[in-house]
Amino acid sequence: MAIQTVGVVGCGLMGSGIAQIAAEAGYAVIVREVDAALLAKGRGKIESFLKKAVEKGKATQDQVTATLGRFTWTTELADLAKCDLVVEAILENMPAKQELWKFLDAKCPPHTIFSSNTSSLSIGDMAACTKRPQNFVGLHFFNPVPLMRLVEVVRTISTSDATYQAACEFGTKTGKTVVTAKDTPGFVVNLLLVPYLLDAIRAFEKGVASAKDIDNGMKLGCGHPMGPLELLDFVGLDTTLYIADIMSHEFKDIRYAAPPLLRRMVAAGMHGKKSGRGFYDYTAPAAAPAK
Ligand SMILES: NC(=O)c1ccc[n+]([C@@H]2O[C@H](COP(=O)([O-])OP(=O)(O)OC[C@H]3O[C@@H](n4cnc5c(N)ncnc54)[C@H](O)[C@@H]3O)[C@@H](O)[C@H]2O)c1
Repeated sequence: MAIQTVGVVGCGLMGSGIAQIAAEAGYAVIVREVDAALLAKGRGKIESFLKKAVEKGKATQDQVTATLGRFTWTTELADLAKCDLVVEAILENMPAKQELWKFLDAKCPPHTIFSSNTSSLSIGDMAACTKRPQNFVGLHFFNPVPLMRLVEVVRTISTSDATYQAACEFGTKTGKTVVTAKDTPGFVVNLLLVPYLLDAIRAFEKGVASAKDIDNGMKLGCGHPMGPLELLDFVGLDTTLYIADIMSHEFKDIRYAAPPLLRRMVAAGMHGKKSGRGFYDYTAPAAAPAK
């Protein structure tokens, strides 16, 4: 059955981007957040991205009006019962995700495909709490979703060929290149990226160099578009801590262990760009190193 209506659960950093590219690709999109204020915040992010696209000449006003017309905004989870595909982008927490899937499994018709944007949790463990493991797949997009060209499609041992093909088709239709990965923590990209980011925090913690010099080192010495500490601020330090703890628990490998500084910063509410402060201070006119 062709996908026509896509549900996006969670309209934060990732959910807002996923909802946007799905609507731009022509799908009807139902977005769910936990309350009206967060829903308005996520909606505002999408509207402002699209407005800028018109200002930069990357989209016409007619295209943006059509895209915005494809959205339905809700705080009611039951409204997702009409969806052919649900993409989940809520916090990186297995009990929260499983609770959501159990609810939707009881509400959605049997053909609905369930997918998670999780960075590090097992897709199989989410699928196992539903009666449709064959319809379950990982769709791991990258931040910022409208600009990054990759999606990892994650197959579990239970994912059917039809579900896998439908997920690949959705990824391609939203303009992404598909990489297929097995259901192992971190898939391809985070398996390699997370130890590198944690090592950058350890280098900063040890006083090897300032935040700016660590970032400049990797940008100018290795040609990376962003330094690791800037990237951490962008990803979210809270999200990174969740991911590190999950991967560390799974692999029992010291490379994935969260440095104490990361834990202290998250406890202090320094979650990166989204909270105004991380390794850099975003409350100042131009982001300045926080230390
Ligand atoms: N941040 C990244 O760079 C990145 C990249 C790829 C994947 N991911 C994954 O995407 C997911 C979301 O991450 P994020 O960075 O967008 O987090 P975020 O904190 O920016 O957004 C999560 C949103 O989900 C909402 N939410 C929580 N429970 C909900 C529920 N039951 N129903 C609807 N909304 C709910 C929250 O209110 C919040 O707005 C996580 O699983 C994360 O691991 C993140």
